[in-house]
Amino acid sequence: MKKRNVYLDNSATTYVREEVVEAMMPYFSDIYGNASSFHQYGQDSKKALLKSRESFAKLINAQYTDEVIFTSCGTESDNIAIKGALLANKGNHIITSQIEHHAVLYTCQYLEKNGYKVDYISTDSTGKVNIEEIKNKITNETVIISIMHANNEIGIIEPIEEIGKMLKEINKTRTNPILFHTDAVQTAGKIKLDVQKMGIDLLSVSAHKFYGPKGVGALYIKKGTKISPLFHGGHHENDLKPGTENIPSIVGMTKALELATKGIDIENEKTSILRNKLKDGIIAQIPEVIINTDINNSVSNILNVSFNYIEGESLLLMLDMEGIAVSTGSACASGSTEPSHVLKAIGASPLASQGTIRFSLGKQNNKEDIDYVLEVLPKLVDKVRQMSPVWNSKNYK
Ligand SMILES: Cc1ncc(COP(=O)(O)O)c(C=O)c1O
Repeated sequence: MKKRNVYLDNSATTYVREEVVEAMMPYFSDIYGNASSFHQYGQDSKKALLKSRESFAKLINAQYTDEVIFTSCGTESDNIAIKGALLANKGNHIITSQIEHHAVLYTCQYLEKNGYKVDYISTDSTGKVNIEEIKNKITNETVIISIMHANNEIGIIEPIEEIGKMLKEINKTRTNPILFHTDAVQTAGKIKLDVQKMGIDLLSVSAHKFYGPKGVGALYIKKGTKISPLFHGGHHENDLKPGTENIPSIVGMTKALELATKGIDIENEKTSILRNKLKDGIIAQIPEVIINTDINNSVSNILNVSFNYIEGESLLLMLDMEGIAVSTGSACASGSTEPSHVLKAIGASPLASQGTIRFSLGKQNNKEDIDYVLEVLPKLVDKVRQMSPVWNSKNYK
């Protein structure tokens, strides 16, 4: 088969859809006023900002438009949510999971170093958090629970609605209700978000995961939730994200979510079929593989596979030379030699963790892409294994 370029790293980032670029364009050149300015130029930008907020709020089923603030990325949304909640509310305790993205995990570790207490909830072997454990860890000091909607490495979907219901009951008896935050960076545009149904107070998203531009995100903050600002310098975005608003990106992100939401079922069906084809082909052709993604309870585009007796980075580089882009563990963790904290949490062996690849599909992928990967991948895995003394001694015994 002829060499082709196959991008299977859509959970790291996506391309920007043409319709999104088109929607953004006027705000670079024609409508460039500062949304805080009183003249017409400013008012035109302000109109776009308000319209975006209104559309965005509707798309996630927020009750009020001003429950949405625009931020610079998912990481910033997570930081504002968690640190902001701790600054504004009484108590010093956070509950999160062992498999959060570093945007949450490192924030919690930083807070721990600064005197806060953090409990990291364990998961089962699929990556699903233990709700009973969450319940048991709650104390009078608990301010916030942060559990991701879906994991960026293995794709598992967490039982957010169930946790939300459990918390609602617990909060009935508390004078200081516990806040519930979810990092929905990997689900926005893939699962229809309904903040009311989810029973959450805070939700983070990032545009570059759903065919929007990089460097823009949003944070849903339920009305009445007390959050202190982390930055100071202006009254933009309810005082929580001061600084001149990035109108082109905000317009682009809103357009991207609108398009993704509209096509959600068709897209999920398409990626599920391609993902299954990839999974089945890998299992059929390559020995000693472990599928780390729970296919029945995950976002449709992620397939995390451990190839025993290989070095993930070597395989990644060889795939790259054949035009195939994947990642080892999470994009942010690659380059580090530490085994993935997510794989550790689900009980993967160090042998398996070392040879783990995340394939993440997207809109641009088709059947031919998967056929190509299934032709190239088995040969490369075999080639890498032939270089491994452990694999060779195992097979010559
Ligand atoms: C689950 C999750 N949260 C947060 C982030 C960070 O988002 P951003 O790159 O917009 O800061 C990512 C990015 O990979 C992610 O996957």
